[in-house]
Amino acid sequence: MMRNFFIFSTVTFWLAVAVFWAADVWLPDEAPRPDSVAANKTWTLVEISQHDTAEDCWMAIDGAVYNLTAYLPEHPSNPAVILPWCGKEATEAYHTKTKGRPHSSRADQMLSTYLIGTLIRP
Ligand code: HEM
Repeated sequence: MMRNFFIFSTVTFWLAVAVFWAADVWLPDEAPRPDSVAANKTWTLVEISQHDTAEDCWMAIDGAVYNLTAYLPEHPSNPAVILPWCGKEATEAYHTKTKGRPHSSRADQMLSTYLIGTLIRP
């Protein structure tokens, strides 16, 4: 009885190992991220300025560049407050909400989701 259980467990274990190994070998790798998504890319203000609409909104904040297009519809303020900062250096606007009040640490943490690179000033 114990012996059968041992054999069954051993066979099941190695079958599971084989399935994981086969999946790793045969399943395709994740699609490569497009260039603009690589967080180690560098961008100039001229490049950022080409993304200045609600459908394509990048901002530079504290030396980092963010593609905020997907977040704009979620942002809690009136869109008129945030939209003018698309395509721009928005560090001060971000840290003051243009009203002298900082964003919460939750907002700070959300930024990393949209990071696409670093600002360089040629
Ligand atoms: C740079 C331009 C931006 C401006 C001018 C701006 C302004 C504002 C304003 C006026 C509010 C609502 C009123 C208030 O809570 O005081 C707000 C709230 C908020 N914003 Fe922004 N925002 C900007 C960018 C961002 C970005 C890039 C994020 C995150 C990815 C963000 C995340 C939030 C969150 C989570 C709130 C809710 C309140 C909080 O957690 O601080 N905002 N923002």
